[in-house]
Parts: sequence; structure tokens; C-alpha cells
Amino acid sequence: MSTSSALATEHWNKTPLYLAEEERYAQYPWLYEAAEFRHHKGESVLEFGCGTGSDLLQFAKHGARCTGLDVTPAHLRLARQRLGNLAELCLGDGTQMPFTDASFEFVYSHGVLHHCDRARQVVEEMFRVLRPGGRFNVHVYARWSYFPLGLFLKHGRNWKLWIENSRDPVHIDLYTARTLRRLFSPADITIQKYECKYAPSLARWIGWYLVAKGVKPNS
Ligand SMILES: C[S@@+](CC[C@H](N)C(=O)[O-])C[C@H]1O[C@@H](n2cnc3c(N)ncnc32)[C@H](O)[C@@H]1O
Repeated sequence: MSTSSALATEHWNKTPLYLAEEERYAQYPWLYEAAEFRHHKGESVLEFGCGTGSDLLQFAKHGARCTGLDVTPAHLRLARQRLGNLAELCLGDGTQMPFTDASFEFVYSHGVLHHCDRARQVVEEMFRVLRPGGRFNVHVYARWSYFPLGLFLKHGRNWKLWIENSRDPVHIDLYTARTLRRLFSPADITIQKYECKYAPSLARWIGWYLVAKGVKPNS
């Protein structure tokens, strides 16, 4: 297990991140469309870092065949309660996904890749488990955003400790469009910015999430 996976497991085992569905999509009104929950009926969907399973449940409700992967046992227990038999849930690390090549038509991930110190290895695993022509949809934190600036002004140099749901340290990278393109190379990706709580109309410039979408590159 990498250092970042060990930190993630310790962090979220102690303080699981659980929101009721209504609360989550009220808090992130843009997420339903950005994640494309409604568009994968009949497809095999993998959520990398499924956490407590709210997003995976949305894919399942819209007819996808769902699998969730996460490294934190406490999150998977809550996801099992939420999803019942609507998804297969696996404990494992994104750097070594426990799936055979070309298992999925769609790989989705929200708020996970920026916690991985071996992000390129995770992306290569995403490409490996996608079928030819399969698509990915990955949401990461943005460097150029109102949010880190606000935290820095409030908390100073340890501002990253205030991003997640407890002060226990966890690995956090912030991405730009450029670093994201390099990370997913040679896939061509589209990138959009979302999430500006206080001024939603500014989200496309100073939003907190970058959403990268693309197709598995030909090998
Ligand atoms: C901020 S939570 C997000 C959970 C969920 N996607 C959501 O939006 O509610 C980050 C999740 O990523 C998982 N995670 C972090 N690094 C991982 C890795 N290398 N492999 C698998 N899961 C990982 C953590 O265990 C945690 O459940």
C-alpha cells in the first residue's frame, strides 16, 4: 500500500464521510449532470474511490451494472448498507485494481485521484480496466480556485489540513488543466470547472473541481 493510501485509510476509517443522498445533491447541485448518472443504462460502471456509495447508487438507480472500489473498510461498510445488492463492492487500491483487463465501459471517480501519490499508476489502471472505446469521468481539486485561497488566508501554511472532514492528514494534490492533460496523456480530455458555493456563476473560472472526461487511448 502506498503512503497516500495508508493516510486515506486512517483518515476515513476514523471519520467516515457520509451524506444522505438529498443532502449531497443539494450541496453539489452541478454533480448530477457532470457525473452523467443517467447515461449508462445497461453498461458496466466502475467507481474508483466509491466512499459510502451515494454516487454509485445513482448509477445503479439509472440501470447501470455497478462496481465500487475503495481502500477504506469503514466507507465500504456504509456503502454496503446503502447499496444492498445493487452493486459489487471491493476493498482495494487504485494502483492495483483487482479486475481483469477491459472489464468496464465507464470509469467514474469523484474526489479521489488528488489523494493518490501515484496518480499516474492509477490512471494506467483505469485505462487497463476500460474496454476499447470505454470512457472515464474523473473529478479532482483545482489549483486555481477560490477555495484554497480562502483556506490559506484563514489558516496559513497548514491550510490543507482544513480541506477534508477531520484534521488527520491526508495526501492532497491540486491540479491545473495542464497537469491533468499530462496525467491522462495520451488520452484527449475535455475539462470543465465546477463548484463555487458563494457565486455559482463564477465556477467555470474559480471553481473547486476540475472534471476530466475522455476515452481510453488506443494501446
Ligand atoms: C473524499 S473521499 C470521496 C468518496 C466518494 N467518492 C465521495 O465523493 O463521497 C475519498 C475516497 O477515496 C478513497 N481512496 C483514496 N485513495 C485511494 C486509493 N489509492 N485506492 C482506493 N481508494 C482510495 C478513500 O478511501 C475515500 O473513500
